[in-house]
Amino acid sequence: MSTPTSTTAWVHKTTIKPTEKFIETLQKQDLPLPTLGPKDVLVRLHAASFNYRDILIPRDQYPFPVNWPLVPMSDGAGEIVAVGPQVKSFAAGDNVMTVFNQEHQAGRHSIVSATSGLGGALHGVLREYAVFPEYGVMKSPKGWTHEQAATLPCAAVTAWNALKDIKAGQSVLVQGTGGVSLFALQFAKAMGAFVVATTSSKAKEEQVKALGADVVINYNETPKWGEVAKKASPRGEGIDVVVEIGGTATLQESFRAVRMEGTIAIIGYRAGPTKDGEKEPGWGEILGSICQMRAIFVGSRAIAEEMVSAIEVAGLKPVVDPKTWTFDEAPQALDWFEQGRHVGKVVIKI
Ligand SMILES: NC(=O)c1ccc[n+]([C@@H]2O[C@H](COP(=O)([O-])OP(=O)(O)OC[C@H]3O[C@@H](n4cnc5c(N)ncnc54)[C@H](OP(=O)(O)O)[C@@H]3O)[C@@H](O)[C@H]2O)c1
Repeated sequence: MSTPTSTTAWVHKTTIKPTEKFIETLQKQDLPLPTLGPKDVLVRLHAASFNYRDILIPRDQYPFPVNWPLVPMSDGAGEIVAVGPQVKSFAAGDNVMTVFNQEHQAGRHSIVSATSGLGGALHGVLREYAVFPEYGVMKSPKGWTHEQAATLPCAAVTAWNALKDIKAGQSVLVQGTGGVSLFALQFAKAMGAFVVATTSSKAKEEQVKALGADVVINYNETPKWGEVAKKASPRGEGIDVVVEIGGTATLQESFRAVRMEGTIAIIGYRAGPTKDGEKEPGWGEILGSICQMRAIFVGSRAIAEEMVSAIEVAGLKPVVDPKTWTFDEAPQALDWFEQGRHVGKVVIKI
């Protein structure tokens, strides 16, 4: 097969208005592929999965730099079809997944690494072919399909990073049934932690119990769930690590749930702002609860590789929403994902 010189891709021209739908704005185009450099790999992408940032970026609500026009989505998986002459770690036929922040290989973030996100600062994976530097992809977990591997680069690495210091017997709180939270639930159980999960409905309560949650709290029935979670924790002392994906609307309850010297991992803003009249928690709550707040931006390639090893040993599989989508349906899939009716990861087959 001759090496392709262009690829079909979905492209956002720029940010979109609150009234616009993705089906009206996302456009399919042919984009040229760069020449394969000596340390580059060419990947035939076969699957991609959504993260909430894929909504925030075109809606102009993302806190990191974005370049337009943009091929969206960070999380892809596929097969290597060609490698440059100096590539050492891959060969044609290898199954790989993307590294979210391409320049975040190990250690702490820098300005360079924090501005190298696929589907944000750089073109993403909603396309058939892409050229990456050798260090921009990594081997997918053994025995996983491309659809499964495409769920990992953002949500799973973030969850693993949030929990990387957890020990058996400690407690973890996860909020809702989105991608980050369900990976955090699975990782926490695999590491021997006690897990409290919150969710919005009866049907979802059963799903998180089936994944091993020790205690499930319906936050619509129990809006003040923080004290309940604390009492439910082993010895009633509170939660060691709260995986905080809700933002200011859930943070007050997270302060009530966390144990002294515990950690609130600050990850997302999925629950939006506080309700009218409710004050946003701040300095007083941090000092008053004697906890640590740790902001997380996904995680390095080194953290991702540690996670893949753990996944292989523990035999974990991702929770993929049963509704799957084709490449041609990408705009409809994005509109549907924005409505938030999914459980776990929403995947597009490319
Ligand atoms: N910092 C980072 O590096 C990083 C990385 C990945 C994601 N994020 C952010 O983390 C957040 C979650 O991402 P995701 O990809 O997991 O999102 P997602 O898959 O879209 O999560 C959707 C789920 O969030 C839950 N949710 C909504 N409102 C909630 C509330 N008030 N309380 C508890 N749960 C609520 C709902 O589950 P239920 O109906 O079951 O409640 C919903 O199904 C987003 O804000 C995203 O931008 C940040």
